[in-house]
Amino acid sequence: MTILGLESSCDETSVSIIRDGEILSNLISSQHFHLKYGGVVPELSSRAHLQMISPLFKKALEEANIEKEEIDLVSATAGPGLIGALLVGLNFGKALSYSLNKPFIAVNHIEGHIFSCFLMEEKPEYPILSLVVSGGHTLLLLVKDDLNIVKLGSTIDDAAGEAFDKVAKMIGLGYPGGPKVQEYSEKGNPKAIKFPVANLKGEYDFSFSGLKTSVLRYIQKEYPILEKITEDEKSNIAASFQDAVVKALSNNVKKAILNYEIKTLSVVGGVAANKAIRNKLIQLAKKFNKKIVIPDIEFCGDNAAMIAYRAGKLFENNIISDLNAVAFPALPKNAFIAN
Ligand code: KG4
Ligand code: ZN
Repeated sequence: MTILGLESSCDETSVSIIRDGEILSNLISSQHFHLKYGGVVPELSSRAHLQMISPLFKKALEEANIEKEEIDLVSATAGPGLIGALLVGLNFGKALSYSLNKPFIAVNHIEGHIFSCFLMEEKPEYPILSLVVSGGHTLLLLVKDDLNIVKLGSTIDDAAGEAFDKVAKMIGLGYPGGPKVQEYSEKGNPKAIKFPVANLKGEYDFSFSGLKTSVLRYIQKEYPILEKITEDEKSNIAASFQDAVVKALSNNVKKAILNYEIKTLSVVGGVAANKAIRNKLIQLAKKFNKKIVIPDIEFCGDNAAMIAYRAGKLFENNIISDLNAVAFPALPKNAFIAN
């Protein structure tokens, strides 16, 4: 079965073709021009998706060495994400499905991330404890099978990636901040500054807003003239902040491993590219004798291969969409409630 995946929820246009689980192409075009604005500008993002999607589709067919008529199933991200950006991929997918007379599946972007671990050679086994950490979401989920996903906890304020991006901005590291904070952390001392790790009522919930404010207060107090901050001090702030994030994430993961029967631990989403987070979770999985599957870096960030893969799973379970499927900006309130 040959599946086309389209992803355009934020600042990456991606087109992928997978056949019987094998990735034939996975092209990702990143909109680096947002850098100068310090964050993604929604209208500019939509326009760039519009320019990129058609040439990227043609290139993906070339790379996969197939004709468009060989596509058996068309899929696109429907949400959550920037509405104008989502509409580009979603409508492109619908039009293609209509013209090729092939089924269409609208995919939840978060489900795409969750199942991205199945793109790896080492296959996860259910039940999976899945930590989703991206620029917009932080969720801890129990994935029982293809269709049963139960939310154990989520962030009550900022997402982990958002906190990385904001702290990077505070110390002048630019956007997107996650990879920069990681780079600086590697040269810094994680114990240099004690930043708080939130302890919340919701057993598996997260909060990063207090941590972010605490970093801001520290900088304001120690460096009233920000220009005076040295590279070494930036590294120590980055390392101490990253250490607090690793602790916040791993504390909840550890609790869930102890309280639920799981076979596999997985961390997915853009922030799953972070080395310290990966290492900590690998360590935890080893300690509790669990399998761990983390996507390669290419599949942590937004990509269409994960959308195509998820669509394939839904199709196997007889779930298809119609051409009235709508784009949705936020994760629905009832998403991932036990059924
Ligand atoms: O999943 P993703 O590509 O897009 C969303 O769906 O949000 O995640 C993007 C987020 C950004 O906040 C970025 O700073 C963060 O992932 N990120 C990282 C790293 N690489 C990307 N955060 C920490 N360490 C990294 N190495
Ligand atoms: Zn994402």
